[in-house]
Formats: sequence, structure tokens, C-alpha cells
Amino acid sequence: MKYLIGNLKMNLTYFESLDYIKKLQAKISQANFKNTKIGVAFSHDSISLSNQFKNRNFLFGAQNIFYEDKGAYTGEVSIRSVSELKIDFVLIGHSERRTLFNETNATINKKIQALLKANITPILCVGENRCDVQNCCSLQTIKKQIKEALLKIDNINNLIISYEPVYCIGNGEIPTIEHIQEIVDLIHDITQKNIPILYGGSVCPESIKNLLKVKNLSGFLVGGAALDINKFFNLMIELENNN
Ligand code: 13P
Repeated sequence: MKYLIGNLKMNLTYFESLDYIKKLQAKISQANFKNTKIGVAFSHDSISLSNQFKNRNFLFGAQNIFYEDKGAYTGEVSIRSVSELKIDFVLIGHSERRTLFNETNATINKKIQALLKANITPILCVGENRCDVQNCCSLQTIKKQIKEALLKIDNINNLIISYEPVYCIGNGEIPTIEHIQEIVDLIHDITQKNIPILYGGSVCPESIKNLLKVKNLSGFLVGGAALDINKFFNLMIELENNN
């Protein structure tokens, strides 16, 4: 199975998300995807919309959660809430959360443990920054992120990992296919499982054809291009046809 996951980040309001879902569902229903699952991660104000779309034709995701069940954690959203709303997956450890909100591998580990316990798929995002590339330590950085994020977690059957080089997000830059392949192979080696691995960072209709050359990649995590339903649909078709 292949995955095309959109990360809408903090771009749509509640009503804009409602409109987006209607258009997305209509587009997906035009096609008959057999090998590709489509998913979208909404911001917290919009995740309750999942309740209005119970028979949806796409996976409904959130962009973050807090690992405690309830309590005095002002501004956070619990796993109990996302469970009740039947959210399918949650993005964890996105580079924007790591860099802008100081999220650590230890916090990420707690979030993954809590999600797996609740039977919700975590999509763990990992990736090196430009400084790591310049210092030739991309592999070490990613290895450390994964080891620490998955510490004391034995069962990773319900986990997806997305490789997102930080320096390629939102700017049209893409690493070489060889580099992405090296990281995909590394992640499979570390996890010793055939878990789905996605690539994210400037995926768009122009770049996807080349990215599809990476072997053992299970799909893509898309930011900017997912905001445009036509571009997003174009990516779905490319991925489906490549299966
Ligand atoms: P872009 O596709 O806009 O580069 O964003 C990638 C991303 O951050 C997905 O999580």
C-alpha cells in the first residue's frame, strides 16, 4: 500500500477546512484508488470536522497531540480527544515542532508510546538540517532521532516514518535520489522492519516523477502542494499509477 499524506500546517481555518474536505472527497471519489491511501493532517481547530465526515474516503489526521490523558496542560490536546474523534493518524516530531517549539526526542518518544497504546498511527518525522549535511552527519542525526524516538517501544507495526530533510521544506530544493535512497535504506536497517517510509520536502507535480525512482519508498508527505486540491490530486494519480 502507498500513502499520500497532506500536511496543511496552520494554513486553513475551520470553515476553509470544511470546504477543503468537501472538494477533496469529491476529487477522490472521481478516481478508484486501489493501491494508494490518501490522508490529510488538519490543525487542531479543524479536527472535530472528522465527526461530520464519518464515512470519509481519506485518512483523517492531526498535526500534534499531548501524551497525557487529561489534566492541567493549558493549550494542549489529548489523545483521548483525538481517539474520540476517530482520528486515523497524528504527525509526530515534524521539524517545525522540533525547531520552533523545542520538541525533543524524549517528548516525541512519549507521544509515540501513547498513540500506539491508543491504536492511532503515529507518522514520525525525521530529517537532518543543512548544517548536518555540511558536517557529513546526516546519517548519525537520523539514526539518533529514530533510536531515541522509539526507545522502549517493541511493537512498531502501526508506525509510519517520514523522512523530511529540513533544508528541503517549502523551498523547491530536493536532495539527490541517491541520498534519499541511502536514508530510506538506513531507516529500514535501524527498524529491522518493513515499515512504510515516506519522503517529504518540496514534493509537487514537477518533482514527483523523479522521486518515484527511490526504491522501497511507500509514499509522500506533502505540504504546500496539498493546499491546492488539483495539485494534490495530480500527485495521487502519479503515485497510484506508479504502483
Ligand atoms: P512542503 O511540501 O511545502 O515542502 O512541506 C513539506 C512538509 O513539511 C510536510 O510535512
